[in-house]
Amino acid sequence: MKKYLVIGNPIEHSLSPKLHNFWMKKNNINAIYEKEKILDSDLKDLITKVQKGEISGINVTVPFKKKVIDYLDKLSPGSEITQSVNTISLDGKNLIGYNTDIDGFELAIKNINFKVLNKKILILGAGGVVSSIIFALKKLKAQQIIVSNRTKEKAEKLKNLFKDIEIINWGKVPDFDLIINATSVGLKNDDKISLDLSKINKGKFFYDVIYNPKETNFLKEAKKLGNEIENGKKMFIYQAAAAFELWHKIKPEIDENVNALLDD
Ligand code: ATR
Repeated sequence: MKKYLVIGNPIEHSLSPKLHNFWMKKNNINAIYEKEKILDSDLKDLITKVQKGEISGINVTVPFKKKVIDYLDKLSPGSEITQSVNTISLDGKNLIGYNTDIDGFELAIKNINFKVLNKKILILGAGGVVSSIIFALKKLKAQQIIVSNRTKEKAEKLKNLFKDIEIINWGKVPDFDLIINATSVGLKNDDKISLDLSKINKGKFFYDVIYNPKETNFLKEAKKLGNEIENGKKMFIYQAAAAFELWHKIKPEIDENVNALLDD
């Protein structure tokens, strides 16, 4: 039986196995998808297993999306530019790294019908997923992309990948059309971002990459102030669907059952 894997640390909360196993069963694919918590020192051995065909594909999550690049033969253009890989597969003898977080964000934002063209976007955070979000926003022709991260140096590093983004100090809130929380603040129910968003005019769009809890305090407060909100659930589903299609050459169905699956 073919085996697929998601690797990360921590990994307990990953819902990727649930989603991929559901789609594989539905499409009569005889395979299993598991999760594995790993250390840096495990990376090389695991990747070798893909080379040998013992593992058919790997999804990569925090904190290995960049680290894994050293062990791959080729990168898709998106992973090259973002320096981030979340999906690995073998093509002939070559281990290829893909970045389906880009597709995930792009499709999610299109699905909620927010038009990025010529808009001003403020991103909070500079962690693993931010380069993918910037890449998608640039593809959709955002007018201006501003990044604010608690640790400014980390945001400055993103400038090496994307010359035309603007970096501002944490705590400053410029005007925007769309604000994206890409920090890990909100994963715990009582987490609150230490930014004053009350002076922002209403009618903006607030997006949170977090989808569990469904409504972070960031989204709750934004809604109360009269803004539109969306969580990261669709982004998660679309990135998984794109990885599934790369591996199995089948576009998985995204329906109510899939939505419900992640709410359990
Ligand atoms: P990684 O940094 O390993 O890629 P991540 O979960 O993708 O991990 O990123 C966490 C993000 O949340 C970072 O941008 C982090 O900011 P720092 O770079 O300053 O650590 C941000 N973050 C975490 N806790 C935060 C807090 N209490 N306030 C503001 N930002 C926070």
